[in-house]
Amino acid sequence: MERKWWKESVVYQIYPRSFMDSNGDGIGDLRGIISKLDYLKELGIDIIWLSPVYESPNDDNGYDISDYQSIMDEFGTMEDWEALLHEVHKRDMKLIMDLVVNHSSDEHPWFVESRKSKDNPYRDYYIWRPGKNGKEPNNWESCFGGSAWQYDETTGEYYLHLFSKKQPDLNWENPKLRQELYDMMRWWLDKGIDGFRMDVINFISKEPGLPDAPNPEGRKYVPGGRYYMNGPRIHEFLQEMHKEVFSKYDIMTVGEMPGVTPEEAVLYTGEDRHEVHMVFQFEHMELDSGPGGKWDVKPWRLKDLKAVMSKWQKSLEGKGWNSLYLNNHDQPRMVSRFGDDRTYLEESAKMLATFLHMLQGTPYIYQGEEIGMTNVRFPSIEDYKDIETLNMYREKVFENGEEIEKVMDSIYKKGRDNARTPVQWDDSEHAGFTSGTPWIAVNPNYKEVNVKKALQDKNSVFHYYKKLIQLRKQHEIIVYGTYDLILEDHDQIYAYTRTLGEQKLLVICNFFSGNPVFELPSNLRYTKKELLISNYDTDPEERIENMVLKPYEARVYRLV
Ligand code: NOJ
Repeated sequence: MERKWWKESVVYQIYPRSFMDSNGDGIGDLRGIISKLDYLKELGIDIIWLSPVYESPNDDNGYDISDYQSIMDEFGTMEDWEALLHEVHKRDMKLIMDLVVNHSSDEHPWFVESRKSKDNPYRDYYIWRPGKNGKEPNNWESCFGGSAWQYDETTGEYYLHLFSKKQPDLNWENPKLRQELYDMMRWWLDKGIDGFRMDVINFISKEPGLPDAPNPEGRKYVPGGRYYMNGPRIHEFLQEMHKEVFSKYDIMTVGEMPGVTPEEAVLYTGEDRHEVHMVFQFEHMELDSGPGGKWDVKPWRLKDLKAVMSKWQKSLEGKGWNSLYLNNHDQPRMVSRFGDDRTYLEESAKMLATFLHMLQGTPYIYQGEEIGMTNVRFPSIEDYKDIETLNMYREKVFENGEEIEKVMDSIYKKGRDNARTPVQWDDSEHAGFTSGTPWIAVNPNYKEVNVKKALQDKNSVFHYYKKLIQLRKQHEIIVYGTYDLILEDHDQIYAYTRTLGEQKLLVICNFFSGNPVFELPSNLRYTKKELLISNYDTDPEERIENMVLKPYEARVYRLV
C-alpha cells in the first residue's frame, strides 16, 4: 500500500460560524480561528478542513456561494484569510477548503445573468427546463423538501435546485463552466492551500433527459437520488478535474458522496484512477433512519454498525482509502447518538473515539467532539436556524398537521443545529464564544462541558483524543494495518484486530452500559501484550483471555 501524508493525518473540521467570534457580532470568524490555532496544535491534529468562508447570502450558512473568490464579510477579509493560512502553515498544520460546485447561490453573478433571458451567454451554466403540462419538468424532490424545481417568471422556465431554491445546480455538461471552475480551484491552490473537501461532488452528473423517478406511492415529489447521484459522467468529470487541477499539486481531496456504495468508492478512490483520495460515505449515518428517511428516527443496532463498517473496511482494503467520521456539521453529536450523553458522557465519548481512530482510514474530528459536546434541546422551533430543519417543520406541522411534539423529538435527535451550537470554550457567558449575542444559542451544558475545564483535567476527553492522535504517529499499524472483525455476533461488544506483518492491534469497545464478558478468540495467539490506551484505570498486566468490561469501556492492546 502506498504511504501518503493524508493517510497518516488527523483532520479537524471547523464550522466557522460557530467556532470563535473575535469581534463581538455573535458570529464566528477567521480572526477567531487564528486565536485558537495553538489549541488545535496542542490537540495534535494535522489538517484543518474549513467549511465555506466564501461570500454568501447564507441561505444555507455558506453552502450557497455568491462569489467563489472572496471572503464573507461576517468572517473577515481576504487579508484575514491569508493570515490564517500563514499561521496554520507556521504551526506545521495544513488547510483544506470546502469546494461547493454542485450548485452556487442564486445571487452569484452567473445565475443573475442566467435567469435574464434564454439566450444569455450564462443561460447554460445552470439547468433550465420548460414545465411539463403546466407542472414541474420532473417529480424530483429537493434534499431540503418540496420540488427540486423553481419556476422563474422572467423566462417562464424552471431551474433545478437539489437543495434550497437559492442554490441552483450548476450545469456540468457545459465545458465552459467546467473550465471556469477549474480556474477558480487553481486560484485557491496557487495561494497555497492543501486540498479540498468537495461538497456533494457525486451529484454533478445528472442522468440525461432528467427522467421522472419511480413513484409507486403516487407522491407529489420523490427522491430522485439515483438520477443524480453517481451519474453517468461522474468519473469522467472527476478525472478531468484531476488532470486539469489536482495532478498539479501535492494535496488531499475528499469527496462528500451521499448514496455511494463501497464498489463505487473503489472507483472514486482507487490509486490508479486519478479521481479523489477518499470519500465520505453515509451508510453508517443512515442506521437510525426508517423507511421515511432521516426524520423517521428508529434505534440503530450494533449488528448493523458492525456490518456496515466492516464492509467499508474490507472493500477498500488495498484498493482505496476510507475517511472515518461519526459526526460533522450536518449530523447530530456522536456521543448523543451512539453513546450516552448523560450518565457516561466521558466514557462513551472516549470509547467512540477509540473505535473510530483505530479503524483503517483518515479520522475526522468535528469541532467540540474532542471535549464531548452533545446534542441540544431548544424549547421552541423559534430557536432553530437551519433551513433543512425549518423547511421540514413547516411542511410537517403547518402543511400536514403533524404533532408538534413528535416533530420536535425528531429535531432533537437528528437536526443539524445539534452540531452548530457555539464551541464551548469556558464557563463564562455564552461559553466564551462571543462577547455579543451568539447567532444561535449556546448549549446550556457549557458549564460542565468546556475547553478550559478539559485542558485542566488530565483525564478529560480532550487529553484522551490527544493521546489517540499521538498513538497514530507512533504506530504505523494504526494507519496501515488491515482490519478484521472478531466476535461478530456479540450484541454489546464491537471488537476488531489490525494486522501489519507480525504485529496485531486488538481493539475492544463496549458500546453499552452493561458489563459484558470479553472472551479472546482462541486463534488470537501472542507472546507479549502492551496496553496502548484505555478509558478506565486499567492494570496493564490484567489477563485478557476472559474479562468483564465496564460500561462503555474501550481498550487497545498491541500484541506481538
Ligand atoms: C452538504 C453540506 O455538508 C451541507 O451542509 C449542505 O447543506 C449541502 N451539502 C448543500 O451544499
